[in-house]
Amino acid sequence: MAELVSLVINGRRVSAKAGQTLLDAGLAGGRVIPHDCATGQCDTCRVRIHSGSVDDAGTRIGDTVLACRARLTAEAAIEFDEVPDVVRRLGNVESVVDLTPEIVEVTVALRKRLAYLPGQYVRVSFADLPPRDYSPTLRSDGSGELHELIFQIRRQPGGAVSPHLGNRIAAGTKVKVEGPFGHAFHRLGRGRLVIVSSGVGWAPAWAVARASRLREPQRELLVVAGARHPHNLYMRPALDWLRERGAITILTCSGGPVPADARTGRPTLHLPMLTAEDTVVTAGSSDMVAAVQFLAAAGGATCYSDPFYAADRKAAVGTPRNPNFIQRLLQRVSRNRSTNLEPIA
Ligand code: FES
Repeated sequence: MAELVSLVINGRRVSAKAGQTLLDAGLAGGRVIPHDCATGQCDTCRVRIHSGSVDDAGTRIGDTVLACRARLTAEAAIEFDEVPDVVRRLGNVESVVDLTPEIVEVTVALRKRLAYLPGQYVRVSFADLPPRDYSPTLRSDGSGELHELIFQIRRQPGGAVSPHLGNRIAAGTKVKVEGPFGHAFHRLGRGRLVIVSSGVGWAPAWAVARASRLREPQRELLVVAGARHPHNLYMRPALDWLRERGAITILTCSGGPVPADARTGRPTLHLPMLTAEDTVVTAGSSDMVAAVQFLAAAGGATCYSDPFYAADRKAAVGTPRNPNFIQRLLQRVSRNRSTNLEPIA
């Protein structure tokens, strides 16, 4: 008969059996850990190990493991962030404003507020166009009303939705919103917070960075934001706001001509060495996100990301089904990690 062990989930003790996954133990004890695929693919069930020891099944990143894969070996205490329930809301487009020749800011006024955590994303349907996933953010000056959702969207030539911004999608257009989704949201913490974005990945990055400055002004904050084309470096006013409040900011540009206030190359070129003390939040192109995940895993840092795969929410929260070279390397590094966690004070 399996040995009984105690598992503490967000401060509440449940009785569990050695060998059970954290997810199963939580479900049996009436504590539902947020999950989706239950097969180690989507990362939704990542939890922090507060103390104790578990078999991490190769899923450890920093002090976190996947609850659907990690198994109990002895007493353990775990934590996860409670997230708002997924709801549906109706609203209308309030404004469509060009931020750059390619990037548009769309403000949606909802009939009823939708609660989300800074950095999460929602599924948006404009009129009868197919749904797309976007992260609500704030304007560059930090403004935004509770009933508004503000999106920064790149016009994708040939796309099914974004080419309609400014014509079929204009002030008054009906909008349906579902969410929030995702786990790359702001969490209070002690160690350095490192935020890395490319392109319109700046939308969630700005939401997370601003929340960190307002909620934990003493925490060390490094923000690296980049774009391929210099005319898409629309995040300067927001970076100024962060810098005035003690954050270190780095602007990068990987296409020419590189402006004097930006460094040449992709954001990953300008990341400092990451350590187990760091928490990393990254958003942007899937290749850049995979590279940041790799660097974070190599340094033992905890990394959160919801890479943008516009048409497929399942893919957006998970590991791509056909991982690229860096993602395969990342998975190998993860598998080679020690299978037992040391207690974390
Ligand atoms: S539920 Fe654990 S990775 Fe998807």
